[in-house]
Amino acid sequence: MQNFLDIDQIEASELRAILDQASHTKKARAGLTRGALDVEKVLEGHMVALIFEKPSTRTRISFAVGVQQMGGESMVISGSEMHLGHGETIADTARVLSRYVDLIMIRTFEESTLLEMAEHASVPVINGLTNRTHPCQIMADIMTYEEHRGSISGKRVVWVGDGNNVCASFIHAADKFGFDFVFSGPENLDPSLSIVAAAKSKGTKIELISDVSVAVEGADLIVTDTWVSMHDSKAVSALRHKQLAPYRVDDALLTKAKPDALFMHCLPAHRDEEVTSSVLDGPNSVVFDEAENRLHVQKAIMRWCLLK
Ligand code: CP
Ligand code: NVA
Repeated sequence: MQNFLDIDQIEASELRAILDQASHTKKARAGLTRGALDVEKVLEGHMVALIFEKPSTRTRISFAVGVQQMGGESMVISGSEMHLGHGETIADTARVLSRYVDLIMIRTFEESTLLEMAEHASVPVINGLTNRTHPCQIMADIMTYEEHRGSISGKRVVWVGDGNNVCASFIHAADKFGFDFVFSGPENLDPSLSIVAAAKSKGTKIELISDVSVAVEGADLIVTDTWVSMHDSKAVSALRHKQLAPYRVDDALLTKAKPDALFMHCLPAHRDEEVTSSVLDGPNSVVFDEAENRLHVQKAIMRWCLLK
């Protein structure tokens, strides 16, 4: 039994095995309807709790469909409908849930909630996004890059915009998958300095380049995300839009990257804010492949959590 909490906590060989498994099951399902069962029903007889303290389309539906395809059952619970952290401790919630379910996926605010859940649960816990990281998303993104362009090792990945939770998991992945990472955004929105320092100390090449035209030169992959995340106060919205306007990914910016550079966004996208519709819908964009691969990679993550 194994938790899937963050990419930096897991051996590179294990992460690679998860991606290999995801590709294998994805191929094996070719031609099947979405609700059809996998040949190997890894979750048969298993109940999975999917807990959400924040909204979700992709994570919620891809986990629920994945559990179904693996022969298991899931229940989606909104944090506000439980006593989680208000009226009952997270530790007690974890102990109780462990008597009912075989696996817990949680999307929450503070990382401490995830860690406390993992510490006190006797079943595996998966991080479905916190204010700090979003590891399932980045596993799907690496899978997507490699489906289109082969190994991501040695490639130049450029993050444009806010140095947020999705950016943090990309930095974790740079070390594990051996790619160079460039962050380009306003200085006050830099990614977590401790995450950058930890990656650098392991020999990962990480650069912070505020001039976005310089940053994207020679990029193999350009990634952006919403300018205001779910955990951000609405009060920052106006300032963020002003500060981040020069970091909008548009066709002119894309032409500075390699001609075959891919564009990624975890979605939901705010069209014509952080990215223009022409880029989002253009030939370099693989955003809907990323969304699809959430399903395949999370199935492999659930399998790894239970069979490891
Ligand atoms: N990318 C992602 O996690 O999307 P949702 O917020 O819709 O789950
Ligand atoms: N950075 C975004 C990602 C959403 C999937 C957020 O946390 O709101």
